[in-house]
Amino acid sequence: MLILGIESSCDETAASVVRDHTEVLSNVIASQVEEHKLYGGVVPEIASRRHCENILWVVQKALDEAHVTLEELDGIAVTYAPGLIGALLVGVNFAKGLALAANKPLVPVHHIAGHIAANYIAHPELKPPYLCLVVSGGHSHIVEVLSYTEFRVVGRTRDDAAGECFDKCARAMGFPYPGGVHIDKAAQKGDPGAFTLPRPKIAGNEYDFSFSGLKTAVINLLHNTQQKGETLDHNDLAACVQKTISDVVTEHTMRAAVDLGYNTIAVAGGVSANSGVRKAMTAMCEKKGFSLHLPPLSLCGDNAAMIACAGSYNFDAGIRADAGLNAYATMSLEENVPENP
Ligand code: KG4
Ligand code: ZN
Repeated sequence: MLILGIESSCDETAASVVRDHTEVLSNVIASQVEEHKLYGGVVPEIASRRHCENILWVVQKALDEAHVTLEELDGIAVTYAPGLIGALLVGVNFAKGLALAANKPLVPVHHIAGHIAANYIAHPELKPPYLCLVVSGGHSHIVEVLSYTEFRVVGRTRDDAAGECFDKCARAMGFPYPGGVHIDKAAQKGDPGAFTLPRPKIAGNEYDFSFSGLKTAVINLLHNTQQKGETLDHNDLAACVQKTISDVVTEHTMRAAVDLGYNTIAVAGGVSANSGVRKAMTAMCEKKGFSLHLPPLSLCGDNAAMIACAGSYNFDAGIRADAGLNAYATMSLEENVPENP
């Protein structure tokens, strides 16, 4: 089975051809990060325009590199939610046009289901059910992966996502966008015990997260130091931010795993590239005897191979869309069925 995946939910225009669910034949990514860096974050209008400019050659390159023709495809999978609405619309409309012209089934994919599926590419032995920690720029979820296409979200962020917190702390510290990776690098040289940062517990759901207090604490610490004319070691602060986020996401995931009876765990999303999160999850899973699956660094961030992989499983489950498919800026992973399947 050959599935073309198309991804345009944020600032990466990506296309990929995947054979039999997990064999990646091509994985093309046109990143806009250098341009958005000038503004300290993603500018939605610019993102949409760049997707329009890039999508045709990105898809063509993905087909060429895979040595696959449009006719040979079994289906065209596309991210339809969640994300920047203008950005999503470019991918969705391109995929709709292509599916119509080539007379191929159109398969809608939820972006977070895509991130989760990145693990199947790297670890074909991983099979549902298992528990997945999803940590990205827009989401922090603890998800029961019930099947390849069914999910139950048992923990979620009440405010900022883990990646958003990394990026906002990094911005306050003067690092360029996206700051998560800069915190990761600086943290290697810092003391994770230098500062005590807040680790809020959420009344009512002990698997939920809240990261806005951590971000505020970091901003206040930086302001207070500046006002006193003192300097603060940014490597130490980066190490403390990373340790706090890594510990919190790991503790909550472990608690959920024990309570809900899972001993197979996966991590997904851009923040799964973070060395602190990877180390903390690895150490805790070893201690508890859980089997842990981490995506390779190349598949942690946004890419279309993960969309094609998730799309292959959606295809198997009979999930289809027609020319009426819309894009959605927000969409729960649980109600992940488009209006007109
Ligand atoms: O999954 P993703 O590529 O996009 C969304 O779907 O949101 O995640 C992007 C997020 C950004 O916040 C970025 O700073 C963060 O992942 N990120 C990292 C690292 N690499 C990417 N955060 C911490 N450490 C990293 N090494
Ligand atoms: Zn993403």
